[in-house]
Amino acid sequence: MIIMENVFVRFPNEIEALIDINLKIGKGEFVYLYGPGGAGKSSLLKLINREVLPESGKVFVDNQETLKMKDRDISRLRKRIGFIYQDFRMLWKRTVYENIEFILNAVRMKEDMMFDRICEVLKIVNLLDKKDYLPPQLSYGEQRCLCIARALVNSPEIILADEPIVDLDSHVRNEIMRVLNNIVHQENTTVILTTKKNDVMKEYPHRVVEIKEGRITGAVNGE
Ligand SMILES: Nc1ncnc2c1ncn2[C@@H]1O[C@H](COP(=O)(O)OP(=O)(O)OP(=O)(O)O)[C@@H](O)[C@H]1O
Ligand SMILES: [Mg+2]
Repeated sequence: MIIMENVFVRFPNEIEALIDINLKIGKGEFVYLYGPGGAGKSSLLKLINREVLPESGKVFVDNQETLKMKDRDISRLRKRIGFIYQDFRMLWKRTVYENIEFILNAVRMKEDMMFDRICEVLKIVNLLDKKDYLPPQLSYGEQRCLCIARALVNSPEIILADEPIVDLDSHVRNEIMRVLNNIVHQENTTVILTTKKNDVMKEYPHRVVEIKEGRITGAVNGE
């Protein structure tokens, strides 16, 4: 369960990115965070993995307040989260395979289990035949798929998907949406997906939280 209570985020440049955010997201929910550019969508996701801290208010992930977490709690939190970053954040000089291996090394998966798991996840995003490519050798859509594979590989409890389907061909987009919908249903994973466009929300209906100028407008708390 993710809970935000009266959260206010101000960046050092004095920008007030999030104002009076109150939100509850249950385990296994699929939620769209919908709003225009600069609304605060990415900042809200980064509150959950504690990359961004509230100036006031509280953020809880499973009853633990993120502000009060110690280093060990923070690394435990991040291992439970798969973040599909809007700005990719992959290792550009490592192969597709190594990009995913890196994630599993960080969670200390046993070597003999790694190969199968990496191939499995590459198959899901249709990149298995490109496992030895470097990211610059992939198309934009394939780079997005690699980011998604990196987020999925550790079977996270929470997936924070920051505009994962933007600029993708419709068949890749549908494939990604199918994958995300499946893990919610089959593994009770929580997915929060940000989007500027509402077409995907019509095709794959889920709870919508609308955000504008740092404020939630028309949130449905799904309780
Ligand atoms: N690290 C930062 N330092 C200073 N200001 C920031 C930082 N990150 C975001 N902002 C500002 O906070 C506001 C919200 O940004 P955010 O990236 O959360 O919006 P967004 O809804 O994700 O936008 P987009 O749809 O373009 O990705 C913007 O005004 C942005 O300039
Ligand atoms: Mg963003």
